[in-house]
Amino acid sequence: MSSSLINTVTPEMIKRYNRPGPRYTSYPTVPVWNHGQFSEKYADSLYQEGLKDRPVSLYVHIPFCRQLCTFCGCNKYITGNKQKAEEYLSALDNEIAGVAKFLRSRKKLAQVHFGGGTPTYLNTDQLERVVKMIVSRFDVIQDGEWAFEADPRVTTNNQLEALYKLGFRRVSFGVQDLNRDVQKAINRNQTVKQSWQTLTNARSLGYTSINLDLVYGLPLQTHQSFCKTLEEVDKMRPDRLAVYSFAFLPGMFKSHKRAIKEKDLPSPEEKIQIYLEAIRFFSESGYVMIGMDHYALPEDELALALKNRTLHRNFMGYTTLHNMAQIGVGVSAISDFGDSYWQNSKDLDQYLGESCNKKLNPRRGIQLDKEDLLRRELIETLMCHGEISIPDFETRYEINFSKHFEKAWTQLEKFDQEGLLKLNSRKIDLTPIGMLFTRNIAMPFDRYLTESSSMNFSKTV
Ligand SMILES: C[S@@+](CC[C@H](N)C(=O)[O-])C[C@H]1O[C@@H](n2cnc3c(N)ncnc32)[C@H](O)[C@@H]1O
Ligand code: SF4
Repeated sequence: MSSSLINTVTPEMIKRYNRPGPRYTSYPTVPVWNHGQFSEKYADSLYQEGLKDRPVSLYVHIPFCRQLCTFCGCNKYITGNKQKAEEYLSALDNEIAGVAKFLRSRKKLAQVHFGGGTPTYLNTDQLERVVKMIVSRFDVIQDGEWAFEADPRVTTNNQLEALYKLGFRRVSFGVQDLNRDVQKAINRNQTVKQSWQTLTNARSLGYTSINLDLVYGLPLQTHQSFCKTLEEVDKMRPDRLAVYSFAFLPGMFKSHKRAIKEKDLPSPEEKIQIYLEAIRFFSESGYVMIGMDHYALPEDELALALKNRTLHRNFMGYTTLHNMAQIGVGVSAISDFGDSYWQNSKDLDQYLGESCNKKLNPRRGIQLDKEDLLRRELIETLMCHGEISIPDFETRYEINFSKHFEKAWTQLEKFDQEGLLKLNSRKIDLTPIGMLFTRNIAMPFDRYLTESSSMNFSKTV
């Protein structure tokens, strides 16, 4: 995206579009899923998956962290009590055993992702145990994607080495912001040296894909201060970068309410300037923008998938893998079987209790109907490619597009007049400016979103 295009984003546009809205890592979004006890239905779904021949993508949630970063919106549990982690590993073992049992046939495992919290909160023996729990129950395919998230402040070279030996080749490090004042405001002191050192260690061990996470819109962050962070991060030259918009949710997270002062947050105008600066900066330094908040080096497979239109999006973000049964294990973990979503309890003690009793017990779930599947595919295509072929959807879903989405169509015409997209009877084509507001453009296709339900989400800018 060129600087001149960026200059066409007006303050009025920002005002109009900066409203709460989903990030669409799933559709329907999590808040509309049903609550209840779904042991039997989930077991049944796993059984159905076992009969299908799709490979598995396994997400393992490790919720522990040593210290609370006050901006954090993840499902985490702050503790120094190592016993809790031991208890957790037993529960995890029971859950993975249960999942494997209900899958019936032994499944091929194509992708493993350890997320958190901080997976490297666990020591090398514990990490090895988790891997053993997995490989003893699945057939690990060669060249599968094994990835983990790690906090450079607590990740040792020993851990990186152990995880490499266990088959991990991808790692994602949290950086957020390198400015000391911003770090103080989010209770996360992380020196530039710590980030550099951990990344260099990973690289020299042979990790082939290294991602860094940054967050824009944090307290005390300014356009100028973030530019310095960008310059420093660019010198590290990670393969991928995620630059997330700070999801400030004081109604949902106590630490946001108590520790983040609203007056310290950049104004919406400054926040979008920071965002646009990141786009300009990384585009000029040779990264390819992937969707709304990711960047990759041109030779990275995400960049190639974008070019070849084989890019997909799921709970873990953008991916090249498709048509897998995604199984989530651990507290708050989500499973996606294509036509149903499930989420484990978000409460650690409840999760521990249920898994220790050898019970699988997702607490939320939703079965998708044909209309949901259509809308999900539309939203995913918009998020990944910024382009919809109308005849393609009309043929496959047997609909008259403009009639079926009559209300959304009126909204699309407005977006067209405002220069966010080009609309005709065959195509919806987002303009480069429209790509900045993809979440807003996807929202009219969300049949569950109402003015009040949208308030549960962070703002789109
Ligand atoms: C599980 S953490 C990464 C691993 C490790 N715990 C760490 O912090 O280094 C996942 C990432 O989510 C992002 N994140 C967390 N809370 C967020 C929020 N409220 N808004 C936007 N991004 C957030 C951060 O960039 C963070 O690195
Ligand atoms: S940002 Fe990472 S380290 Fe910090 S509390 Fe969240 S999960 Fe833990």
